[in-house]
Amino acid sequence: MLGEKTITADNELTIAGCNVVELARKMGTPLYLYDEEHMRSNMREYMTSFSESYPTSVVAYAGKAFLCSAFCRIIQQEGLWLDVVSGGEYYLARQANFPPERIIFHGNNKTDWERREVLKRGIGRWVIDSEMELEWLMEEAQNYSKGKLPVLFRITPGIDPHTHRHITTGTVDSKFGLPIEGGVAERAIAQALLSPWIEVCGVHCHIGSQISSLEPFEKAAEIMLEFMASFQKAKDFVLRELDMGGGLGVPYLDQEKEKFPSISQYVMAITDKVKETCARLSFPLPFLLVEPGRSIVNTAGSTVYQVGVIKEVPGGKKYVAVDGGMSDNPRPILYDARYQAVVANRVLSDTREVVSIAGKCCESGDVLINEIELPKMESGDILLVEGTGAYNFSMASRYNLLPCPGVVFLRQGEPYLVVRPENWGDLVQKDLIPDYLGKEC
Ligand code: LLP
Repeated sequence: MLGEKTITADNELTIAGCNVVELARKMGTPLYLYDEEHMRSNMREYMTSFSESYPTSVVAYAGKAFLCSAFCRIIQQEGLWLDVVSGGEYYLARQANFPPERIIFHGNNKTDWERREVLKRGIGRWVIDSEMELEWLMEEAQNYSKGKLPVLFRITPGIDPHTHRHITTGTVDSKFGLPIEGGVAERAIAQALLSPWIEVCGVHCHIGSQISSLEPFEKAAEIMLEFMASFQKAKDFVLRELDMGGGLGVPYLDQEKEKFPSISQYVMAITDKVKETCARLSFPLPFLLVEPGRSIVNTAGSTVYQVGVIKEVPGGKKYVAVDGGMSDNPRPILYDARYQAVVANRVLSDTREVVSIAGKCCESGDVLINEIELPKMESGDILLVEGTGAYNFSMASRYNLLPCPGVVFLRQGEPYLVVRPENWGDLVQKDLIPDYLGKEC
């Protein structure tokens, strides 16, 4: 099993002292569960590793992995900053009173409205992603309400991190960032230096996500610092900050546990590489930022479902269908992501069989787990799919109008509802019927 879980004398699963079967029966399914202490301890591992090896640094949690108002409080309490990628994420953070000076604002196509709102309300760092965005900001930054606008430039270091092609972002031919090649990044930064309203703080890169080895991060740090040093030579200006983005991968299956470096190993690898490269290039140690998402929340999260129809195809597979699916977890269908599961009301059993866990969406690809050996299941059983903390709730869709599951934080034996489950009423709340269509069906 992933994360901290125990089994009761009745063979039922508990997480953070909460009985998952009782929770599912009481609060309904599907439901996203998060072990709060586990998330906090991942955050602490980042914070402590940095404070020991490289104190002039910031850890900014990447909100796109999972975000809700209660979680903003936790991020703030643990001393992290927050990376947002849209006006919506920014709005949520501000509604939760997350301090704007600790927010990093990303996006390859920030809309007029998003730019205006953020300029009005304030930001910790604004990450410029393209030449066109810079052109706009050269004008708009004069409207910034809090002095000079602190910016980073997103650069593509040209690294292939060997992860799924949909989550590779640091290669040169990417919709994100400014390439080093052809002097594009250098020209853009030099232009920003001419603005009296922009404070050029440094550079940013994010090479991809779910990365299983440290080498691509080290390589990226080296390339970024070489760029920073060459910029200093060419323009006589020191880019003081280096943001290395996120990307540390995590195990989704027990057998992958050894494959991924720990958070502290990741921090050590990056900080060592930064120190070594700065010494080699005689470049001053930069203020360092990272933006982890998945490695903070994924293993702490899981989704609990109730088993419904069980169907055996003669000469084929046995399908166990649950009351959710690709609408609450689109990752198997998008990235061929693999998951493991636990039968929460019968964790250990000698009677086991190989089944495929099907969702209830109208799409034959909606299979959450293809062939897994589990205790023999019956309709009504409670199934927990593990490692769904990152990019599940945040990528949930309205497909087939399945209401979005609620989110519960589990803490010292108590469940706390932090996002209430959607209901059918929510599904039609935003619909409007224009008069010309008549009052009745
Ligand atoms: N910073 C930037 C600029 C990013 O684009 C991302 C992720 C992160 C930080 C956080 O990366 P992480 O530490 O979570 O790997 N939907 C995909 C993942 C897309 C990641 C996009 N950017 C999935 O479900 O695997």
